[in-house]
Amino acid sequence: MLKFLHLSDLHLVPPGVRLHGLIPQEQLDRCVDDVIQKHSQAAFCVVTGDLTHGGDPIAYGVLRECLARLPMPVHLMLGNHDDRKAFREVFPNVPTDSHGFVQQAISTTEGRLLLLDTSEIGMPDGRLCERRLAWLKDRIEEQPESLLFLFLHHPPFRVGLQRMDSIRLLNGDILFEVLRPHLSRIRHFFVGHLHRMIAGSWRGIPFSGVRGTSHQIELDFKTSNVASVSFDSPGYGVVMVSSDSTIVHFEEISRSVMGT
Ligand SMILES: [Fe+2]
Repeated sequence: MLKFLHLSDLHLVPPGVRLHGLIPQEQLDRCVDDVIQKHSQAAFCVVTGDLTHGGDPIAYGVLRECLARLPMPVHLMLGNHDDRKAFREVFPNVPTDSHGFVQQAISTTEGRLLLLDTSEIGMPDGRLCERRLAWLKDRIEEQPESLLFLFLHHPPFRVGLQRMDSIRLLNGDILFEVLRPHLSRIRHFFVGHLHRMIAGSWRGIPFSGVRGTSHQIELDFKTSNVASVSFDSPGYGVVMVSSDSTIVHFEEISRSVMGT
């Protein structure tokens, strides 16, 4: 069995700055403490983007410091709040595709992870351009027997939250056409962006998403022009994969642990 962790939406800011009244670094530190205490034997951790809130190089430096405490490898992805250039300057060793997009394929005992870069810098919604889709197609086809787990910051589907739906991955239909011949091999989508614990399926593909380690988004089906921020506890996913199952547990950092 393979056990790994799914973190997302850290929204780190430079020291001394607050975001929605919170200090994102403190929120992340508490999640890291929780991981060290409960899940230090996990094989690796994937962070599905919005590593920082404004793409500030200083905030990426904060990220590097926070994650250095984790005992397992950490695979980083970008979200709409990130800056690809600043990220790559602070993390020059993170793999990219040949065009500089922060995409990588990772082999595991239970299948292949494909980490996609859905960010269109300066835009809140997500896109996968032809070059990124060609990379995905090549990775899928080069190992035709591998089971596949896809990781995207932006979900390609609507979830009923109007603002978040308007800034989803906008060319999900084209993504699906790339995936369609290989659906039997696609085990799961892991998404960020939503700042909520969520699970379901899209065109038959199971998916899950986790809370941010920073602020959360309310289950508000009425407000259309903004995503309503909530201050529910941060959390992350604990994923256990075996030959016949993909199980996702949602860890919440309790208020007593957070001291609030
Ligand atoms: Fe976010």
